[in-house]
Amino acid sequence: MPSQNFLTLFFFLLLSCNTITTSSPSSQKEDTFDFVRPINPKLLGLNKKEKLSHFRFYWHDILSGKNPTSIIIIPPTLILNTTTYFGSVNMFDDPLTLGPQLSSKLVGKAQGFYASASQDDFGFLMAMNLAFIEGKYNGSSVTILGRNSGINKVREMPVVGGSGLFRFARGYAQANTYKYDVKSGDAIVEYNVYVFHY
Ligand SMILES: *[C@@H]1O[C@H](CO)[C@@H](O)[C@H](O)[C@H]1NC(C)=O
Ligand SMILES: *[C@@H]1O[C@H](CO)[C@@H](O)[C@H](O)[C@H]1NC(C)=O
Repeated sequence: MPSQNFLTLFFFLLLSCNTITTSSPSSQKEDTFDFVRPINPKLLGLNKKEKLSHFRFYWHDILSGKNPTSIIIIPPTLILNTTTYFGSVNMFDDPLTLGPQLSSKLVGKAQGFYASASQDDFGFLMAMNLAFIEGKYNGSSVTILGRNSGINKVREMPVVGGSGLFRFARGYAQANTYKYDVKSGDAIVEYNVYVFHY
């Protein structure tokens, strides 16, 4: 019966919790566990309150000129509808600046790729790490993986994790095009990233 299963699970969890709280870290010998063990969140500094931060910066995707930051690594396939660039992939190492001008303060780089994943409209798979260099965030990164829909004015993509100060991060990013040059393909996009982290 399902209710019995739940009861068993409940007691099992109760038992596991007891094991965690009653055994002090010193009694857990480091070399006695094989593959996985429960640990106290305090040991990873996760007893601190989770914070919500709002980051804002501008993402520069430069395809033109002698020093592009974004290059087509896979051109669109000619087999299918090419108006949506379906199948094409750009790899980028894009500057992130405080203001919309490229000359404004550099706060990090967005490194990753976008791939056209839609045959009927402009829809891109975005996979990128925001590698920050600013202040205490220098060396920490936020990972974004999601759908960048070209038809929406503001595109939303999930923050799926991070490193350093962004360990256990979750949240979302909103991308809003500030400037787009149809001829060159160069784009400046305002990013607002809302992220929970410790
Ligand atoms: C190709 O994509 C365009 C742009 O979304 C669309 O309008 C058109 O109907 C598509 N053509 C075919 C043959 O699927
Ligand atoms: C960020 O950290 C790296 C490595 O620790 C250091 O070389 C660099 O100068 C730092 N950058 C800034 C802007 O503080």
